[in-house]
Amino acid sequence: MNRLAPSILSADFSKLGEQTELVEKAGAHFIHVDVMDGHFVPNISFGSTVMKSLLGKTKLPFDVHLMIENPDRYLEDFVTDNTEYITVHVEACPHLHRTIQHIKSLGIKAGVSLNPATPISSLEAIIEDLDLVLIMSVNPGFGGQKYISSATEKIKELKKMKDSRNPNLEIEIDGGITLENIKIVTDAGVDIVVVGSSLFGAPDIEKRVKELLELIG
Ligand code: DX5
Ligand code: ZN
Repeated sequence: MNRLAPSILSADFSKLGEQTELVEKAGAHFIHVDVMDGHFVPNISFGSTVMKSLLGKTKLPFDVHLMIENPDRYLEDFVTDNTEYITVHVEACPHLHRTIQHIKSLGIKAGVSLNPATPISSLEAIIEDLDLVLIMSVNPGFGGQKYISSATEKIKELKKMKDSRNPNLEIEIDGGITLENIKIVTDAGVDIVVVGSSLFGAPDIEKRVKELLELIG
C-alpha cells in the first residue's frame, strides 16, 4: 500500500497541533519532519523541540528528514516513541555506514536521502543496510518548488535495485508533489509520498489528504 507523509514545513506553525490532528483524521500515514540547519541547505526550519511538541497530539509515526551537516551529533534528540524513520543525506555523511548503524542502534529505522544531482549508484555499497531511501525531487531547502522530472527515472532505477537486493526497502519521494504528478511517482515505484505545500496550502486540508490518498489508493 502506498502511504502519504504530509510535511509540516508547509503547515501553519501557529496551528501545528490542529493541522496535525486534521491530517491524521483524514488518513495520512506519517508526519514528515523537515529539519534544516542553514548550512547543508540555505534555510533554517526547526529542530527537535517543535517535533516533540506534537507528542501526545498525534499517534502518527514521525518520518524525520535531517537536512543538516554532522547529523550524528543530533540523532539522539530525534528519538521519541513516535519516531519511525530518521533519514540523513548521503552528501552530508562522510562515514555513511557508521551513521546508519548509529541510527539503528537507537532502535529507529534508517533512511538515506539523495539530492537531485546524486546518482542512485551512490547507494551500491550500502543498499542492503537501509530501511528507506528518500529521493529528493527538488533541491532541498524550501517547500513549494517544482518537481524535477529526472527524479522519475531515478525512482525506476532504485525500484530495480530494491527488487533484486533489498525487497523490504521503502522508496520515498520528496519535493514538488501535487495532485497532477502523485500517480506518476507511485506508478514508478514509490511507497511513501511526501507532500507539503500542495497539501497544507489547500483550501480544505482534510479534503486534499483524501484526494491524494484516492489517487494513490
Ligand atoms: C524540501 C523538503 C520537503 C518539502 C516538500 O527541502 O525536504 O519535504 O517541504 O514540500 P513541497 O511538497 O512543497 O515541495
Ligand atoms: Zn523532506
